[in-house]
Amino acid sequence: MRLDKLVAQAAQQSRSNARAAIRRGAVRVNGAVCRGLDTQVDDAAAVTLDGAPLRVQKFVYIMLDKPKGVVSASEDKSAVTVVDLVRESWPRRGLFPAGRLDKSSTGFVLITDDGAFAHDILAPKRHVPKTYEVLLDTPLTPQMIAGFAAGVRLADGSVMQPAALEPGKFGPCSARVVLRQGVYHQIKRMFGVYGAGVNELRRTAIGGLPLDETLGAGGFRALSPEEVAQIVPTGGARQEPSG
Ligand code: URA
Repeated sequence: MRLDKLVAQAAQQSRSNARAAIRRGAVRVNGAVCRGLDTQVDDAAAVTLDGAPLRVQKFVYIMLDKPKGVVSASEDKSAVTVVDLVRESWPRRGLFPAGRLDKSSTGFVLITDDGAFAHDILAPKRHVPKTYEVLLDTPLTPQMIAGFAAGVRLADGSVMQPAALEPGKFGPCSARVVLRQGVYHQIKRMFGVYGAGVNELRRTAIGGLPLDETLGAGGFRALSPEEVAQIVPTGGARQEPSG
């Protein structure tokens, strides 16, 4: 990769800032000051900016605790999107949400620029489980639990894959659901078959990775490589994620 491109990407700087830093001798390649903007630098090279090591982070994986009212999209004409919430921290990335939550739902949304990884975790064949905490407008019943386990037939006739449903921690109207597919408004429609409305819906885990509850509504952070690996235990991320 060209040195100016590498510095811009790794330091999250504009290309012109990166060039200025290189010209003033702030960038060293393998210990030696390098002023050649177009110097080709290989993956193994040790590059520093003002003495700090730089690493190219090919892809970024961000955990967001989505608040209510925010839409799961990259851009929207009228509403705030999940990408709007994080864009300032990763300004030059082609970010998008890997999977959606309804506008009224809250919790774990994964935002990335790694299309292949997103495709991997969303692919129906992968069956990556997603865990939700739900508050119903009526108590959970054994019929609901048995029906979810068997596969709910929705009002339009489509039959959902079996889903784990168990009592939640917040009283008789609370439940925990684990889904391995992603159909539009799936949980609301599944409970709707039993005449139950969903008052609150919060995604608390994707694959084996729980939402970091210390983030708070609208909080976000980059995931470590170990955390990314927890999402799809058999692999999927093709590149070491950024910090
Ligand atoms: N199911 C729903 O109904 N809504 C969501 O946001 C996620 C799953």
